[in-house]
Amino acid sequence: MERVATGIEGLDKMLNGGIPARKHVALYGGPGAGKTSFGCEFLYRGAKAGQNGLYITLEETDEDIITNMKSTYPLLTDLDDLIKQKKFEVVKPDKLQLEEVANLLEDRITSNDVKRAVIDSATMIRLSFDKEIEYRQTLFEFLSLLRNLDCTTITTLEAATSRKEEMRFDIEHFVMDGIISLYNLDREGTRIRALEILKMRGTDHARDLVPFKVTPSGIKVYVGEKVF
Ligand SMILES: Nc1ncnc2c1ncn2[C@@H]1O[C@H](COP(=O)(O)OP(=O)(O)OP(=O)(O)O)[C@@H](O)[C@H]1O
Ligand SMILES: [Mg+2]
Repeated sequence: MERVATGIEGLDKMLNGGIPARKHVALYGGPGAGKTSFGCEFLYRGAKAGQNGLYITLEETDEDIITNMKSTYPLLTDLDDLIKQKKFEVVKPDKLQLEEVANLLEDRITSNDVKRAVIDSATMIRLSFDKEIEYRQTLFEFLSLLRNLDCTTITTLEAATSRKEEMRFDIEHFVMDGIISLYNLDREGTRIRALEILKMRGTDHARDLVPFKVTPSGIKVYVGEKVF
């Protein structure tokens, strides 16, 4: 099976090699859980491996995404080169619409051979709908558009809480092909980052909750270690 290695240390082992190609994965987590850092690294590793990436930011400006990425990952010094070579592109669409996002993606797949994309975040789009049913409808249509594209995507979803116990499942959890959840666990007064793969259609994967760190050279997932 064709897979897209995330390049994130430890994670591909949990995924038995990577995300199955052309699947659409949700990255779920509370405020500051590491969604944007994760998404940026997914595209950075892809760009290094010869797969062009597109970061579609719906919330922060494109400049902010790049500036923050540089300060989060000071040791990934070739980011500017990758951006110059258009192997890593960050774009903020004019309109907060899934249709606009799909058009942008389709355009870059055709014009720049984009193979990986990150959409940050779907929650911004959800908030632009008055009625839940209309959002659902649009989300279904969006996913059917994505399924015709030769691209593997990660869409971030904002959880209202960073407490694992209080998280609930939204519509996105059921329609997406995979879900990776990021948590900020409270352990005796200190916060521990942890992640789990809740589902990944088309492949077996690890099911444990594992600790991870955001380090200056990238995210490290400590496979085999316990969170407490
Ligand atoms: N160099 C670094 N080393 C360790 N941790 C860092 C570093 N840079 C940023 N962080 C941590 O990463 C967190 C931000 O992560 P990120 O922006 O990826 O989260 P997010 O889930 O996208 O948040 P939001 O919900 O605000 O969009 C910061 O709050 C900070 O704790
Ligand atoms: Mg973010």
